Amino acid sequence: MRGVGRALTGGHRSDCSVAAMEIREVAVVGLGTMGAGIAEVFARAGISVIALEVDSEALNRGMSVLDASLSRAMDRGKLAAHQQAEIRGRIRPAAGFSEAAAADLAIEVVPERLEIKRQILAELDRVCSPDAILATNTSSLSVTAIAAASKHPERVIGMHFFNPAPVMRLVEVVSTVLTRAGIPEAAADLARRLGKTPVLLGDRAGFVANALLLPYLNHALRLLETGYACGADIDTAATVGIGLPMGPLALLDLIGLDTSLSVLEVLAAEFGSPRFTPAPLLRRLTAAGRTGRKAGRGIYDYVDQSVAAADQEGNGAASAAPDTVTLIGSGDEAEADLAGALASAGINVTRNAAHPTDLVLVAAAAARPVLPAALSSGRPDQAVGLHVPGGLGEGNLAEVVRTRLSSEAAVESTAALACRPGPAKVLAGLQAMHAAYGYPAFAPPLLLAEHAAAGLGFAKVGPAH
Ligand code: 3HC
Repeated sequence: MRGVGRALTGGHRSDCSVAAMEIREVAVVGLGTMGAGIAEVFARAGISVIALEVDSEALNRGMSVLDASLSRAMDRGKLAAHQQAEIRGRIRPAAGFSEAAAADLAIEVVPERLEIKRQILAELDRVCSPDAILATNTSSLSVTAIAAASKHPERVIGMHFFNPAPVMRLVEVVSTVLTRAGIPEAAADLARRLGKTPVLLGDRAGFVANALLLPYLNHALRLLETGYACGADIDTAATVGIGLPMGPLALLDLIGLDTSLSVLEVLAAEFGSPRFTPAPLLRRLTAAGRTGRKAGRGIYDYVDQSVAAADQEGNGAASAAPDTVTLIGSGDEAEADLAGALASAGINVTRNAAHPTDLVLVAAAAARPVLPAALSSGRPDQAVGLHVPGGLGEGNLAEVVRTRLSSEAAVESTAALACRPGPAKVLAGLQAMHAAYGYPAFAPPLLLAEHAAAGLGFAKVGPAH
């Protein structure tokens, strides 16, 4: 895309006098969560920052966010007191645009509304030196449309940081067909100076990261609102099952539901595919002001630190694991694995649905619905599916698959079964199987013997099963 930008800017000068090392002072306009984080990033890199908010209350709030972040770093031993003071000393809070006059680069980080961003660009045009670079941190709007508000659109660039800005390494450097050659490279060099990794892109909806991320987050909301699973379990599936640092619903709260909605609307308008159409729940929560962490409430509730999901499912108390189980499967490896694990845990297993048992367990598979098997047992209220992606093993995700007919007791019992196999029972089962069959795979690991001896479990028991 850099080539495209250059080819179409033929009328502009092709050299650029701006070098990242010459950027000594920046203005950050807008001190919300992202603005405060970006100001911190610049100051940490030794660059002087004019932290600009025209509303004095918002300015104080933003500076508190920034101070809290630095204090947290100090508490965690990541910053010495003198470093904190130096970083803080580089940041000058300001309440008027004229204060941005000395900036070598000004970046706007205001809400995602085109008219506000265009106004800010016009103000910056007025006060900044003609050599200054003007950047936008927009996550959803067209950088070209923002740049067009400037009298000098050739010096306008997108610098898209990620939340939390002090932690996330990527900066998307977005050039337009109007951007002067050399400006994207200077912005990328600056990003490297900040310890970030830049990628150079053209101006396309969602750039790259959001175009990939937002459909996934939207899908998670659809799963939540269609009752596919409760919020905590959707997030657990993503963290424990896929290894992501955060579940999609928690991430939506971190990004902000309003920001996510804006990005999806732009993607939907550009590509028209239904997967970009914002989930109704996203619109409702945003309209209700439940925009995420910054508002204290989003999909989860942060006000009383209890993190209660917008839905109330899946929070049942831990209940006892069953002693007897009817196992239904299709004779595949997953069923055999499950049968082995149940036997190892000292649970009596039968395949005969007519035998009265505490639970009917369906060995679930991705392409096989649980309900027909549950109905075939004649006790669908007692039937629940269990799926362990990647096979049974310590620390693996166990998906407890309820049907419309599953009773709460059966679901809780299955969750207890998945969470608490009981090291002593597993040890006894493995020892017996090892003695009977002699396969090395049945040899109990030392750690299991240690946990059994100490009476310790392996899994945490909590609302997220
Ligand atoms: N500000 C500053 N630092 C923060 C922070 C914040 N808000 N949150 C966490 N940190 C720091 C901590 O101080 C800690 O630093 P240290 O390792 O130097 O001590 C480090 O991050 C890890 O934090 P924690 O131990 O408290 O918590 P986690 O290990 O759970 O990490 C997380 C928290 C970094 C937020 C992690 O969960 C994560 O990476 N989540 C995914 C975030 C993500 O995907 N962001 C991109 C969103 S998309 C976007 O922003 C684009 C937009 O346009 C929509």
